Amino acid sequence: MTMTQSDRDIEKDLSNEELSNLYRIDDFEAVAHERLSQMTFAYYAGGAGDERTLSRNRAAWEALSIWYRVMIDVSKRSPATTLLDMPLSFPLLAAPTALHKMAHIDGEIATARACGAAGVPMVVSSLSTTSIEEICAAARSPILFQIYIGQDRGFLTDLVRRVEQAGCVAFQLTVDTPVWGLREREMKTGFCVPPEMSIVNLQRTGSASTGHKGVGIGETLGWTITPSLCWKDLEWLCGLTKLPVMVKGICRADDALTAVRCGAKGIVVSNHGGRQLDGAPPTAEALPRIAQAVASRVPVLVDGGIRHGGDILKALALGATAVQIGRPILWGLAAGGENGAKRVIEILAQDFDRVMALSGCPTIASITRDLLEPAR
Ligand SMILES: Cc1cc2nc3c(=O)[nH]c(=O)nc-3n(C[C@H](O)[C@H](O)[C@H](O)COP(=O)(O)O)c2cc1C
Repeated sequence: MTMTQSDRDIEKDLSNEELSNLYRIDDFEAVAHERLSQMTFAYYAGGAGDERTLSRNRAAWEALSIWYRVMIDVSKRSPATTLLDMPLSFPLLAAPTALHKMAHIDGEIATARACGAAGVPMVVSSLSTTSIEEICAAARSPILFQIYIGQDRGFLTDLVRRVEQAGCVAFQLTVDTPVWGLREREMKTGFCVPPEMSIVNLQRTGSASTGHKGVGIGETLGWTITPSLCWKDLEWLCGLTKLPVMVKGICRADDALTAVRCGAKGIVVSNHGGRQLDGAPPTAEALPRIAQAVASRVPVLVDGGIRHGGDILKALALGATAVQIGRPILWGLAAGGENGAKRVIEILAQDFDRVMALSGCPTIASITRDLLEPAR
């Protein structure tokens, strides 16, 4: 398959030396901006409405201070942790994001390899441009599958079985999409999935195409979600599979508790990276309430605006088991495919290790709430 000029303006990956001269996730975003077509960059970078939630996600992490501890031996540090019995080299997962082939010709395979090399799990979007079987075959770290519940239960049951057989370790059921958010940047740039790509996991026999032209992602993928989604659907999914189901897109403590009662084995505090309800709270604000209410019954993950090692430490101090990153992986892919995504994860891993040392935290267990709110 050849990339067309409109998908990706510059085809040559940055060299490893060039990648090693990028030090921040924002450097990668700037490179991706230069290299991707206007349409692809707008799709990846954009949020819903006035993009208030999108920008507040980052601002809320930035607003928190770390009241570091001193005079603690941090010469030996371990960022390693576990999530649902999975080993994590550090508390990070790749969030589910759609259409990786628009960022790089190797698409989700490049992401899976980068995650594997770094020892972090990848959550595969159900809107991936590579089949779940191919991704699992290339993976060296645990693969989770993000799923939407739509109207076609027969199709979903088959998809669940495929995901189980492919070797995935868990599901993330996305629940913040009763309808798609209004994403103006997609509409203004006439977003469409390039004809040479397809949303392979969602191809139904008899359906002509999952492509959609100039109408934002929602129009022809309408059947994959449903505004009638409710708690009994979560119970249905939990009853259908033996794999653990995490629920992604929660912003309230009461919803988190209901999800646990309905069988969820994990909560992902998320507002879809500001792409759904504009005006939703930033995830750094939602997380502590949810973590407190859930009280370690199940792990709580968080995503949205995580761009620094310090953001990861803040999330853990607020009660998260781990964080997920969405756009940073896409910027890495755009810059250098597998090596670019690897470098993005490396930047965050190194930064997190440094922040652990500077905060007086040699272990994950030592990252506690008082780092953000010390006693007076
Ligand atoms: C381009 C793009 C595509 C996404 N696709 C999906 C998806 O298919 N399913 C899903 O549950 N979330 C999706 N998300 C949301 C991410 O899983 C995640 O919640 C969000 O990106 C986290 O915010 P961040 O990008 O600031 O790290 C997508 C986000 C982006 C930016």
